[in-house]
Amino acid sequence: MPHDAWSPRRYDQFAAERRLPADELIQLCRHLDGHGTIYDLGCGTGSLTAELGARLGASNVVGIDSSEAMLTKAMSLANGRADLRFELGDIASFGESALPAPPSIIFSNAALHWVDHHDEVIDQWRRTLAPDGQLAIQVPTNHDHPAYPLATTIAAEHPEWFPNGPPPLPSNTVLAPEDYAQLLHGLGAVEQHVSLRVFAHELDSTANLVDWLRGTTLLPFRRYLDQAARSHGNVKGAGNDTESHHTFGHNTNSHRDGSELFDIFCEVYRERLIEQEGLRSPYLFTFKRILMWARF
Ligand SMILES: C[S@@+](CC[C@H](N)C(=O)[O-])C[C@H]1O[C@@H](n2cnc3c(N)ncnc32)[C@H](O)[C@@H]1O
Repeated sequence: MPHDAWSPRRYDQFAAERRLPADELIQLCRHLDGHGTIYDLGCGTGSLTAELGARLGASNVVGIDSSEAMLTKAMSLANGRADLRFELGDIASFGESALPAPPSIIFSNAALHWVDHHDEVIDQWRRTLAPDGQLAIQVPTNHDHPAYPLATTIAAEHPEWFPNGPPPLPSNTVLAPEDYAQLLHGLGAVEQHVSLRVFAHELDSTANLVDWLRGTTLLPFRRYLDQAARSHGNVKGAGNDTESHHTFGHNTNSHRDGSELFDIFCEVYRERLIEQEGLRSPYLFTFKRILMWARF
């Protein structure tokens, strides 16, 4: 990824809600016997990675992520622990180079939707597994929730800041649950579980949904705005702070940098979301996720 927009602080704002699917994914896995390596692909801040060894009986765990910001936080958890390490890497190419030890479990929670070609990537991951190895993957598939296409609509209305059109939403790459079942079967799974699960998260209000999404789903919009700001030759700090946020997309903003534009984008998005969904308190955020597990 060209720009590291991930923020551990923002991502962890909804840590309790994000933890629920991860716990269900762990429960799908077969316990190891105290031996074996778990690779946690797209490990993020590492809080889950740090627990995996004890919860699943592995002798060591390796977390891999492409975000330096997330890994910096993760690495602090590995201090003094010989059974845990973190590495910078791209999960799309995991398995292309030889590994020190074949994984007994490849675990990946809420990360696969950031890469394309799931059939090829899962095939590549599966090839690295030790005999009797397991794949455990949780992937969001919520792109048809009404909040998601709204971000695309707003971006499409502002070609001055999205000259290449809106960015694709991350979970556009996700397959149907039955396709994952077919895929796992074709890769030789001797046992498998694939389910579509709706998590019902009660947020304080509609407006909180923006806080959730800006830590993940809206990050591609941030990257596009960074690029647009750079190509406009903008300079950070030169902005007029008294200017109304509603001027997003007009030439008066040509001095703003990517992070300021993203703040404005999120504010416009918040207003439009409240218009669309109504100002509800509490707001029930329904979040569809696919949980899959297979043993080979
Ligand atoms: C939504 S977070 C999930 C983090 C963690 N698995 C958890 O459950 O808390 C997604 C993570 O995937 C990472 N990621 C996205 N694309 C990646 C890629 N191609 N290679 C490695 N990591 C990636 C991001 O940097 C981010 O830390």
